[in-house]
Amino acid sequence: MKVLVTGGLGYIGSHTCVSLLENNYEVVVLDNLSNSNIGVKNRIKKITGKDITFYKGDMIDKKLLNKIFTNEKIDAVIDFAAYKAVGESVSKPIEYYTNNVATVLVLLDVMKEHNVKSIVFSSSATVYGDPERVPIKEDDKIGGTTNPYGTSKLFVEQILKDLYKSDNSWSIAILRYFNPIGAHESGLIGEDPKGVPANLLPYVAKVANKELECLSVFGDDYDTKDGTGVRDYIHVVDLAEGHIKALQKLEKEQKGLFIYNLGTGTGYSVLEIIKTFEEVNKTKVEYKIVGRRPGDIASCYADSSKAKKEIGWEAKKTIKDMCRDVYNFVKKNSK
Ligand code: NAD
Ligand code: UFG
Repeated sequence: MKVLVTGGLGYIGSHTCVSLLENNYEVVVLDNLSNSNIGVKNRIKKITGKDITFYKGDMIDKKLLNKIFTNEKIDAVIDFAAYKAVGESVSKPIEYYTNNVATVLVLLDVMKEHNVKSIVFSSSATVYGDPERVPIKEDDKIGGTTNPYGTSKLFVEQILKDLYKSDNSWSIAILRYFNPIGAHESGLIGEDPKGVPANLLPYVAKVANKELECLSVFGDDYDTKDGTGVRDYIHVVDLAEGHIKALQKLEKEQKGLFIYNLGTGTGYSVLEIIKTFEEVNKTKVEYKIVGRRPGDIASCYADSSKAKKEIGWEAKKTIKDMCRDVYNFVKKNSK
């Protein structure tokens, strides 16, 4: 089976390419390298011993997509190509809606033309806004997103639902990721954000590695176990496996629209993360408590029992694995 992975050289995409190759799928990647680099292609080969077919280009480019579908006989698509910086999306809404929504419309149109109707889409826990309850279930209320990034995911989910309503021969999996962290245990691929990281774990790792001075903990007055924000951190390798299970579900059912939360079901606070990171890596993370970050919520963690029941997926790696692997990657790749 041949899978087109858009954004396949990025953080989650590269780990998913590894899982796909390990599961004997053929992999074609389309990436414009706006947030990744071509070196990742060789690193995927180093890990798996297998090659991917690579097209450099933008998913907005209909001509290129047509060429790929004509050349490659694609059976299914996993769509990772998007911008993902929440803060940046507030100041660049046009760029975010273009890159996260308009590109998907082009992709779906070309898929339809070529009669390829299987797609796995990267969504996010952000579609739940400030959740009414935790753990969050898939049929809990969505909406109330507070930034264009989150709203772009909500829009694409709606587009996919409308598409399925119009033609139920499509098979669609919407995967709502919680907080992906960690890296492949080889240290060859991982998250390599440009500039100062906005997310917790990459920041913590850079403080420990003395590339940054001190972590700011955004608020210790939330209604949580120790006052700091609680999140459901999930190892990126487990997340990648979730895509294989979702593809297998689409292959088996042939049609349908399926939505799954991919998380561990356990929430950790910022202070727990710092402590675990220090213990596992035998290092020190300097931090100070500062005010809340605008737009943050207190707690967000998943009920992932639907994914376990319907696709046989559950996260296996622990928070210690995540902290170890992220630091291993940062140490091996610091510039
Ligand atoms: P990433 O930035 O590392 O990967 C995205 C990849 O897509 C990059 O390689 C980039 O160069 C490419 N890309 C972007 N726009 C493109 C376009 N128009 N055409 C072709 N290639 C393009 O991000 P990631 O963390 O791997 O995220 C992958 C997907 O998962 C995204 O859709 C993101 O919104 C979603 N997601 C990520 C998180 C997270 O915390 N990392 C959480 C929830 C959902
Ligand atoms: N935090 C700090 N200091 C930092 C960075 C983060 O204290 O320097 C705290 C935050 O306040 C929050 C927790 O660490 O309590 C996690 O923050 P992240 O920025 O790592 O993650 P978020 O939960 O805010 O957001 C992430 C992704 C979004 C995605 C969302 C839900 O960045 O794209 O998870 O999936 F939508």
